[in-house]
Amino acid sequence: MSKKKIICHPEISMAFPYEHSKIKEMKEQYWIKRKSGDIYLDNKPSFKTFHYNELIVELHHEVYEVSEDTFQLLESIEVNEDDTALEIGTGCGLIALDCARQGAKVICTDINPYAIELVKRNYLRNQSMLKGTVEVRFGDLFSVLKSDERVDIAIFNPPYLPTISEERIGGTGWFDIATDGGVDGLSLTKRFIEEVGKYLSKQGRAYFVFSSLSDRGKLDAYLSNVELKSKVVSSRLFNDEQIDIYFMYF
Ligand SMILES: C[S@@+](CC[C@H](N)C(=O)[O-])C[C@H]1O[C@@H](n2cnc3c(N)ncnc32)[C@H](O)[C@@H]1O
Repeated sequence: MSKKKIICHPEISMAFPYEHSKIKEMKEQYWIKRKSGDIYLDNKPSFKTFHYNELIVELHHEVYEVSEDTFQLLESIEVNEDDTALEIGTGCGLIALDCARQGAKVICTDINPYAIELVKRNYLRNQSMLKGTVEVRFGDLFSVLKSDERVDIAIFNPPYLPTISEERIGGTGWFDIATDGGVDGLSLTKRFIEEVGKYLSKQGRAYFVFSSLSDRGKLDAYLSNVELKSKVVSSRLFNDEQIDIYFMYF
C-alpha cells in the first residue's frame, strides 16, 4: 500500500509515500479542522480526477488515493442489479459508485470526514451514470447500520499495513487512518471478519483485501472462528508484497 505506484489517470500518476514532513503538516491541519468541526472541501473541483468506466472521480489530498488494491478489489466484486451493498472505508467512493453504476443500492461509510465530503461530491458528479443509489454515512465500521439493517454485499479495503507506534505519522491523522492496521496489520480486518455475518442477508457475501505483509496465520485463525466460509478469489504480486482478495459466504 505504501510503496506502490498508484494507477491513475496518466496525467496524475504519483508515488507513495508522500514526503514525511508534508504528511505531518497535512495531518496537523486535519486534526485542527476536525476538532473545530470545520470540515469542508472548497468548491473548486480538484485538478486530480480519473476516469473508470463511465465514472469521473475526484481525489483529495486528505483522502486515500485509489491504488492497485482498490482496482484489484473492484475487479473481484460480483454485484447484481438490486443488490444492497455496504462499502466500509470508501475513500473517494470509486467502489461504491461503480457498484451503483451496476444497479446496486449502496451505503458507503468512512471515518475520515474529508472522504465523506469527497464521496458526496463524486456522487453528485456521477449521479446521471448510476442505475442504483448511493447513501453516504460517517462512522466506524458497522456502527453506521441500524440493528435490523442487512446487506447482500459488504466490501472493505481496510487499513492493512503492520504498523508500530514509531511508524505512525504523528498520532492519528488521515494517512494513518487509511493505512495503519496495528502491529499485525489486522486490527480492522479482525473486527470486520467478526462482525460482518450479523449484517448480511441470507444470500449475503463479503469481500476484503489482505496483504502478505500482515500475519496470515492470525487471519486464518480469525476466519476459522466465524460461521461464514472464505476463499481467496484474486492474488497479485507487487514486488515483495502479495495482495489477496478474500471472499466470505454462507
Ligand atoms: C485503504 S483505504 C481504502 C479506500 C478505498 N476504499 C479504496 O479502496 O481506495 C482505507 C479506508 O478506510 C477508512 N477507515 C479506516 N478506519 C475505518 C473505520 N474504523 N471505519 C470506517 N472507515 C475506516 C479510511 O479512512 C480509508 O478511507
